[in-house]
Amino acid sequence: MPEHGHGHHGHGGQMTPEQQRQMIEQEIRLAKNLGQIKHKIVVMSGKGGVGKSTVAANIAETLQAMGYNTGILDADIHGPNIPKMLGVNMLEEEFNKYQFDAFKNIVEKDLDMTLPQDEQQKFIQAKQEEYKHSMFPVVASSGLKVMSMAFLIDSLDRPIIWRGPQKTGAIKQLISDCHWGKLDFLIIDNPPGTGDEPLTVLQSIPDADLVLMVTTPNVVSQEDVLKCVKMVEMMNIKNIGLIENMAYYICPHCGEKLNIFGEGNGEKFAEEMEITYLGDLPIEESVSDAPNKDSAISILDPDDEVSKRFVEIIEEIKKEFLE
Ligand SMILES: Nc1ncnc2c1ncn2[C@@H]1O[C@H](COP(=O)(O)OP(=O)(O)O)[C@@H](O)[C@H]1O
Ligand SMILES: [Mg+2]
Repeated sequence: MPEHGHGHHGHGGQMTPEQQRQMIEQEIRLAKNLGQIKHKIVVMSGKGGVGKSTVAANIAETLQAMGYNTGILDADIHGPNIPKMLGVNMLEEEFNKYQFDAFKNIVEKDLDMTLPQDEQQKFIQAKQEEYKHSMFPVVASSGLKVMSMAFLIDSLDRPIIWRGPQKTGAIKQLISDCHWGKLDFLIIDNPPGTGDEPLTVLQSIPDADLVLMVTTPNVVSQEDVLKCVKMVEMMNIKNIGLIENMAYYICPHCGEKLNIFGEGNGEKFAEEMEITYLGDLPIEESVSDAPNKDSAISILDPDDEVSKRFVEIIEEIKKEFLE
């Protein structure tokens, strides 16, 4: 992460003129970068472990496979595991090289080699200034663009320790400074709960097309989702949908669908909260990140139940929120 802690407003809530200028500049970068994105979907949950990242990653890859130019922003700064799920593993050192190459490509594309040396130098300097804050997303083999805190650390084994305002500053920076280019969809994997971190994401993306809640059928998960829904509604965001993950199990021997938690549980819950029910997902080895598998992502396989489900969920999202 670059040097200054945005979001830190000095003592007593007073901002120095320099801090004010930086904040305004950051807002401008945010508007510029997000302005190139047609649709933004924020994925949320009350708790960790309900499959929020799994759902976000699968929806992003499915959209990309359907032909949409898609990006995914992993805003979970404590457990940034989207890159691992997508098989784009890159740590700080390699990411920095990647940044340098991405910048070089931009410069070389537009640099007029017939100009005199000093003019060329000036052009390069101007580009350096323009992209001073930019972070370029990592492009997965599918073409999906990925940005995550995981790229900005030097080891995945150590916990990332964030204190106070650093946290929201880092999240804000991921959102404002990622240079996505033009996208049809950006999926944002929000940190769980109703704290400062998910709030920062929602405040930075007030025009999200959809806030997608992920729950499991358990009462405890549902109660926490209810709190999330209330928070989102308090922010005047009205487009809220629900996916029930791990809702049922398909017997691998006989193919029978087993509604372990009862039929229509998620649908009822969405109805109670007066939000849009978008579908459920089975508990399935193909979705899990079981150690013997290299990818937890299932894309556009008409014979695969989970893959079909994700396509159905995306069609439902388009119908309910984007048309
Ligand atoms: N439908 C599912 N079937 C099987 N395993 C799942 C399913 N959804 C998620 N998982 C597994 O559950 C664990 C938690 O999922 P994850 O997406 O990391 O949750 P969160 O982001 O909400 O903390 C992961 O190991 C993931 O592979
Ligand atoms: Mg997660």
